[in-house]
Amino acid sequence: MENQKSVIKVEKISKTYGAGESAVMAVKEASFEIFKGETVALLGPSGSGKTTLITMIGCITEPTGGKLFLDGKIIYDNGWKIHDTRQLRREKIGFIFQSHNLIPFLNVEENVTLVPIMNGLSDEIAKNKAKELLDYLGVGDKLHVKPSQLSGGQSQRVAIARSLANNPKIILADEPTAALDGERALSVMQLLKKLAKEQDVAIVVVTHDDRMIPLFDKIIRVNDGYITKE
Ligand SMILES: Nc1ncnc2c1ncn2[C@@H]1O[C@H](COP(=O)(O)OP(=O)(O)OP(=O)(O)O)[C@@H](O)[C@H]1O
Ligand SMILES: [Mg+2]
Repeated sequence: MENQKSVIKVEKISKTYGAGESAVMAVKEASFEIFKGETVALLGPSGSGKTTLITMIGCITEPTGGKLFLDGKIIYDNGWKIHDTRQLRREKIGFIFQSHNLIPFLNVEENVTLVPIMNGLSDEIAKNKAKELLDYLGVGDKLHVKPSQLSGGQSQRVAIARSLANNPKIILADEPTAALDGERALSVMQLLKKLAKEQDVAIVVVTHDDRMIPLFDKIIRVNDGYITKE
């Protein structure tokens, strides 16, 4: 185990929304560690704190307490320790959201190549990589189409391609397969798992789908803001 490299580590991380009477403690002192190449599922009922937890790891939601380490570096310790969390996200993290968040005025190819090009990749390499990923996900014929012309499942697959395009160290996915049929959902998860192993990427997936459970190395259960590891 001593050779395993920690990619995500949280120590007593908490999030309280609001203040006073209306305060909601969505995540309560969660602690766990995730290593290179690990695939981890976050499981729990609706409202239990899964999205809050995964968006804190992704530096989108600011915690209200505890510590967050990414790739061995301290990111949050009762306040952000990194001034540019946007750059951090762009370089290290790929996101797949419950709703796909594609940029409506960019076509599919532009949506997928945007971040890699911002990170300094040449147009040509970024486009080749985008084509390869989109082909793999079965939407390679949609390069020049706008998101509004895609079905829900197609949009989701483009969003998955986009999250993979910048070779992130961490992929965070909030119900990435919700809009896909059973067979496609499984093959997308298998693709994510293959990627985790081949490229040593840590993958954290929020899922409700029990059929996916055997694909994960670790299951973290979330219940009313508390986590229990299996
Ligand atoms: N922006 C917010 N402001 C106030 N309360 C919030 C906010 N976001 C979430 N909450 C509350 O925090 C708790 C956890 O919400 P969260 O979205 O993390 O749950 P979840 O496990 O992702 O649920 P689901 O499976 O339905 O997506 C809920 O009680 C929710 O109402
Ligand atoms: Mg959620």
